[in-house]
Amino acid sequence: MSVQYIQYKGIKFPPGYNSVHSLCFAENKFEVRDDDIFNVTYPKSGTVWMTEILSLILSGGDPTWNQSVLNSLRSPWFSTRLGLETAHNCPSPRLLTCHLPIQIFPKAFFNSKAKLVYTSRDPRDVVVSYYYFTKMCRTYEDPRSFDQFLESFLSGDVPHGSWFDHLKGWMELEGRSNIFFISYEELKQNLQGSVGRLCHFLGKELDDAAITSVVENTSLEAMQRNKMCNSTMLPKELMDQEKGTFLRKGVCGDWKNHFTVAQSEYFDKVYQEKMQGVKGTFPWEQTGLVKRV
Ligand code: A3P
Repeated sequence: MSVQYIQYKGIKFPPGYNSVHSLCFAENKFEVRDDDIFNVTYPKSGTVWMTEILSLILSGGDPTWNQSVLNSLRSPWFSTRLGLETAHNCPSPRLLTCHLPIQIFPKAFFNSKAKLVYTSRDPRDVVVSYYYFTKMCRTYEDPRSFDQFLESFLSGDVPHGSWFDHLKGWMELEGRSNIFFISYEELKQNLQGSVGRLCHFLGKELDDAAITSVVENTSLEAMQRNKMCNSTMLPKELMDQEKGTFLRKGVCGDWKNHFTVAQSEYFDKVYQEKMQGVKGTFPWEQTGLVKRV
């Protein structure tokens, strides 16, 4: 099925929930509150996981909210038509989710005290996860093959734009006290410690029992059981559950099961070129990808 993507500022967005108007409104008119908490990611980097973590932290570790209210209502996608309305009606402090690149992000944020959590992930695992997601999500073009999807991903010709530009844009704000950078790999490696650091950043210190509750309720297995976040409540017109599972594997390094040697070498080459000059190191650079500084 052919999908007509929305085009906004040179980036394509899936139709349905997005419109040029909703994106333009998000960028230019969205009113940011000083106690807002933004959950920002490139697709397939752990967005829904972070929503669960942040919701539980705000609830002091009590899972009732996570288990009784849909994630899209707990942390609305404010740059979409429906999400905007939900966001307007949310009591403070609000959790807000988006995949927006920095150049389209609400301008009002940059003069506010609102906080932002940016979660990144090994781009090789992102592209694999994205490939499967586009097969089941009906507002995305069905990819012809993994090879073709990989090519589009590396050239930035996928919905939500280039992974490289997204990461590089947001990384420019590293060091700001109201922005917290974390990776999917750090969450996987040490969820307890990561939750503790997030609590500290949010100024919401939880005791050990509450942190343990956050960790237990955000395990892949707990989330797979929770209808409020496992995507099974989404309408069939949007998500075809017969074509895959949203909470698919939840591991690091699944790319090794999908990339050929040639694809891996090509990916490394493009990564080196595009990441040249980017400061800092990322967890996935310890497992293959090396940037030339
Ligand atoms: P996989 O497709 O590799 O399994 P997003 O929410 O940004 O769309 O990201 C979805 C990816 O995050 C999926 O990756 C999903 O399985 C993974 N994920 C979500 N919750 C997780 C959890 N609790 N633990 C590990 N991975 C999780």
